[in-house]
Amino acid sequence: MLKQPVRHLIDPEDLSIEELDALIKLAQKIVHSPREYADACKGKILATLFYEPSTRTRFSFESAMLRLGGNVLGFGNANVSSVAKGESIADTIRTVSAYADIAVMRHPKEGAPKLASQYSLIPVINGGDGGHQHPTQTLTDLLTIQTFKNSIRDNTIAFCGDLKFGRTVHSLIRTLARYGIQKFILISPEELTLPDSLKRMLNQTYSLQLEEVRTIEEAVEEIDILYMTRIQRERFFNEAEYAKFKNAYLLDLEKIKNAKEDMIIMHPLPRVNEISYEVDQDPRAVYFEQARLGVYIRMALILKLLGVECAC
Ligand code: NCD
Repeated sequence: MLKQPVRHLIDPEDLSIEELDALIKLAQKIVHSPREYADACKGKILATLFYEPSTRTRFSFESAMLRLGGNVLGFGNANVSSVAKGESIADTIRTVSAYADIAVMRHPKEGAPKLASQYSLIPVINGGDGGHQHPTQTLTDLLTIQTFKNSIRDNTIAFCGDLKFGRTVHSLIRTLARYGIQKFILISPEELTLPDSLKRMLNQTYSLQLEEVRTIEEAVEEIDILYMTRIQRERFFNEAEYAKFKNAYLLDLEKIKNAKEDMIIMHPLPRVNEISYEVDQDPRAVYFEQARLGVYIRMALILKLLGVECAC
């Protein structure tokens, strides 16, 4: 039998819409019967190579592999690995390929996980590369939308916050455009709008409308999904620049008083100063549920990339 080529997930576009839909379906099956998958990855090892801070992405991947009966190894701080001695990404991943069956990498430099995939013998998953892409957050977001809105296509989605540096937005908006969503509302300070190159690509490739506004209140009545984001402090040149925007948006109950009753509020987390704690009690706030669902879609992704056919 021919050996299948190794598949990586570097960019959400590495997966077709059919594959995305299949992953969402599989994740939903796992949500309903997790026990059936408890041994699906027995004997397999996931490596987490995190060169940037993370709570949800790293822990949800580890939790996903452990819930599949596999094991995990890795680092959450590259300073404790040979990276601190100057080892290249190419050599690190070649070595990790011998110790694990699948790897997730987060890196402050755009393109680092892609480079790793070119030297890797095992599937490499991009766990976020600089301000570029975050494909597994996109998978999490799609599962959340499907779960709470029953459909991905028929929604008006607003992205609010740091649309310039926010990689979760960059990955999700392109994917939703592929799903055929026709209207996006972009809420950001003028200095933190979606990059022009991305806007141009979206406008040229898809038939959609990008409406830019500066406040949540201006658009709140027509929004089905409000996707809040953190101002990406670590991507600013200096602290003074960041300080100008750090309190740009604080979502509170007053701001959503005219919102639809079935609107959902999402946030990839961590939140810093974008959503008041009073909003957490509102039934429309789904961000912690979103973080929970991240485990199941990552379980589905691991099964797919490892080619595990389970009788589950
Ligand atoms: C996001 C990230 O790392 O890009 N977090 C996450 O993975 N859930 C969002 C952020 O850091 O603002």
